[in-house]
Amino acid sequence: MRLGVLTGGGDCPGLNAVIRAIVRSSWYRHGHRVVGARDGWRGLLEGAWVELDVESTRGILHRGGTILGSSRSDPTWFDEQPGDVEAQLRAQRLDGLVAIGGDGTLRVAANLARAGLPVIGVPKTIDNDIGGTDMTFGFDTAVQVASDAVDRLHSTAESHNRVLIVEVMGRHSGWIALHAGLAGGADVILVPEQPVELEDVCARVRERAEHGRRFSLIVIAEGVALVDDAGGGTLRTGRVTGHGRLGGIAHRLADELERRTGFETRATVLGHVQRGGTPTAFDRVLATRLGVAAAEAAHERRWGSMPGLRGGRVELTTLAQAIAHPRHVTVHDLAIADAVLGIGPGRGRALYRNVVS
Ligand code: F6P
Repeated sequence: MRLGVLTGGGDCPGLNAVIRAIVRSSWYRHGHRVVGARDGWRGLLEGAWVELDVESTRGILHRGGTILGSSRSDPTWFDEQPGDVEAQLRAQRLDGLVAIGGDGTLRVAANLARAGLPVIGVPKTIDNDIGGTDMTFGFDTAVQVASDAVDRLHSTAESHNRVLIVEVMGRHSGWIALHAGLAGGADVILVPEQPVELEDVCARVRERAEHGRRFSLIVIAEGVALVDDAGGGTLRTGRVTGHGRLGGIAHRLADELERRTGFETRATVLGHVQRGGTPTAFDRVLATRLGVAAAEAAHERRWGSMPGLRGGRVELTTLAQAIAHPRHVTVHDLAIADAVLGIGPGRGRALYRNVVS
């Protein structure tokens, strides 16, 4: 067999590990050859291919980014052109294609598979919001980076009696915020899935001060919309839909919080530092497991499928299912945060609405 592979959408730590696993297990187990499309779907359509083998995938396991390059493309654009993709596959004499990506890339892959093309998906994203898998690789690394930042900010917040706000990535889902906040012992965790009123955030900071804690650490996901209960509408930045750029909600919150409470408040936006650099050992192993499973699925011609981590095991699901059910932070996940982020006996006022404890 001859397989194509591409990485699409925002990069994340672990992409090189999964490319390596696909190339090596295809070759070692079955003698199948692999070629890579440069820069995601764009490179595929432009015919920019590169041969991959054991030699060219040597020494990349621990490296961040993707040796193939990546690009963002509008998933709906492909709906009209499965024929162009098919022509490329034929020109390259490819028996199948493995598309490694987040929701946008996998949506394209699902549509192509529905149109009858031989496509398999592999889920990746630091946001951890893909259905059909309990976890995506890249997430563990991003959480480690973010919780290290929270730890560092904690000590300086305490020294200066300041409120410090850390903004992490997460367009539609707050997994990074929740996990980094829990791991770093943040006092307030704000996620896109649960609207929180500004006044409730201020109240928590004031309550802490009344109990002698004159500093506070807040972790907020970039896609959060804060409800301005004073009648000012919703506080948010950027366009959450599509790939509009986000970033800066922490600064807006800092200004508003300082104005309302009088406490000195500063913001730190972590941005792309969460996406770059060396993957954790966990992400390397998860990426390798998914890569081997994807190569195996291609060998068995299980087109339209996607390997995912389910209860500790790697299992195949359909791309259609994975796309239809994105993973979001639920009220049950937030209940854990509410349980440990109280103020004092009987004063652990729930921050989130509708949270089930
Ligand atoms: O989709 C993953 C993600 O990291 C989002 O959390 C973030 O909003 C987006 O990528 C940023 O993408 P870009 O680097 O293309 O601006």
